[in-house]
Amino acid sequence: MSLEYGVVVLAAGMGTRLKLDVPKPLAPFMGKKLIDYALSPVWGYFNNSKSASVTLVTGHKRELLESYIQSGYPEKKISFAFQEKQLGTADALKTYFDKTENSKSTEYTIVLCADTPLLSVDVLSKLMDVIKTKNLDAVAATFKEENPFGYGRIVRKEKGFNIVEQKDGSEEILKINEVNSGVYILKTKFVLENIYDIGSNNKASEFYLTDLFKENYAVEAVCFEDKSCFLGVNDLFQLSVAEELFRKGIAKKLMLENGVILKNPSLINIETTEIGKGTIIEANVSIDATSKIGENVKIEQGAVIKNSQILDGAHIKAYSYLDGAVVHGKASIGPFAHLRPGADIGEESKIGNFVEIKKSKLEKGVKVSHLSYVGDAFIGDEVNIGCGFITCNYDGANKHVTKIGKGSFIGSDSQTIAPVEIGEDCFVASGTTVTHSMANGAFAISRTKQVTKDGMAHRFIKKK
Ligand code: UD1
Ligand code: CA
Repeated sequence: MSLEYGVVVLAAGMGTRLKLDVPKPLAPFMGKKLIDYALSPVWGYFNNSKSASVTLVTGHKRELLESYIQSGYPEKKISFAFQEKQLGTADALKTYFDKTENSKSTEYTIVLCADTPLLSVDVLSKLMDVIKTKNLDAVAATFKEENPFGYGRIVRKEKGFNIVEQKDGSEEILKINEVNSGVYILKTKFVLENIYDIGSNNKASEFYLTDLFKENYAVEAVCFEDKSCFLGVNDLFQLSVAEELFRKGIAKKLMLENGVILKNPSLINIETTEIGKGTIIEANVSIDATSKIGENVKIEQGAVIKNSQILDGAHIKAYSYLDGAVVHGKASIGPFAHLRPGADIGEESKIGNFVEIKKSKLEKGVKVSHLSYVGDAFIGDEVNIGCGFITCNYDGANKHVTKIGKGSFIGSDSQTIAPVEIGEDCFVASGTTVTHSMANGAFAISRTKQVTKDGMAHRFIKKK
């Protein structure tokens, strides 16, 4: 069965100006990589329909890019076409057709670049609409740019148009403000009929894909009002500009579509749009692209949330740091709490200040209110842990588990020497070191009896 659409993402370039060790598509962007964002309108547009194939033309450090894509999108069948030498964008497209199975039998070919992370689904929809309704051979997305330096200029003709690259333009042509975005939709048949005729007779001696567009051809330049979505990332400054725009877009969406209250939208770094209505987020909060936040959550100033899930009604107090944690409904965290990978905090539980939790499941209504470390533990419902509790989970070589059954009370300044199990409804007195497991209902105390000698303090108090 032949596919209707072939999407090809040009990603073979060196990206030298970024000055990074990784190829350009793998430049860090909004918690992920540039390529993830360049691909996102494709998933948005095709919405999991099986009618499109996606191919990356790879070149420079292709192993890194290919393995990133393979592990990041196991369920999507993304293929790769290796362009040995970067001879130009037309050569990249030829490489795609020559090396990709079934590419020549598609009806439409959609060409994107790996370095335009802000491209929207709307651009693809509009281009597709124009090429189909007017039955054209090719359409290019264009926009107006005050300082068009570096872009291909759009030279409109009575029918059709040309694209003239910066290096090749006459003074007259270089004054043109309408420029080529590098996003195209083309009839595959039209490309195959023309691309093998493109030469490299230009100032750069490159094969230009833009030579597919000519006067008198059934081609159209579709000019877009909002040029921000075509912003290309060629260096780290442009990368920061693109991130800033992206963040603004997310903030707007969160407020207008999701109903999230952002106390200071210009002072937050939120990379996810999965935040529910009624949630309040204060200034200087960071939430990465992989986190999900429910409804009516409150996140106070300075909290950092990575790869975590916060459920409805939870309260994350100021300056807490969460990485790989799950916080269930109505739980409260912080201020100044540290939840590390595998921390799973039950409904209505309370984690207080200067508490660190790692790889531990806390059931409903657990309280760890002050200055404690809980690692590799299972803590049952309604357990109350006093101040300064420590699970001694590490013997220098291995980690061991602490279990505390529901309803138990753990006094302040106590510790468990794991592996150890405290049953349900136990009572551990303050200052106890629990080295032996305790049956349900047991009481443990490990303190030496207090000795008090009246009037003896002066022997110990030293005065300067
Ligand atoms: C290209 C367009 C220009 C347009 C601009 C928009 C051409 C000839 N020019 O110029 O009209 O205004 O984009 O940003 O197409 N690539 C390959 N293999 C190659 C060459 C490039 O995969 O042999 C990839 C690059 O990695 C990049 C994309 O193609 O993702 C665009 O190439 P680039 O060299 O950046 O083209 P521009 O000079 O920006
Ligand atoms: Ca470019």
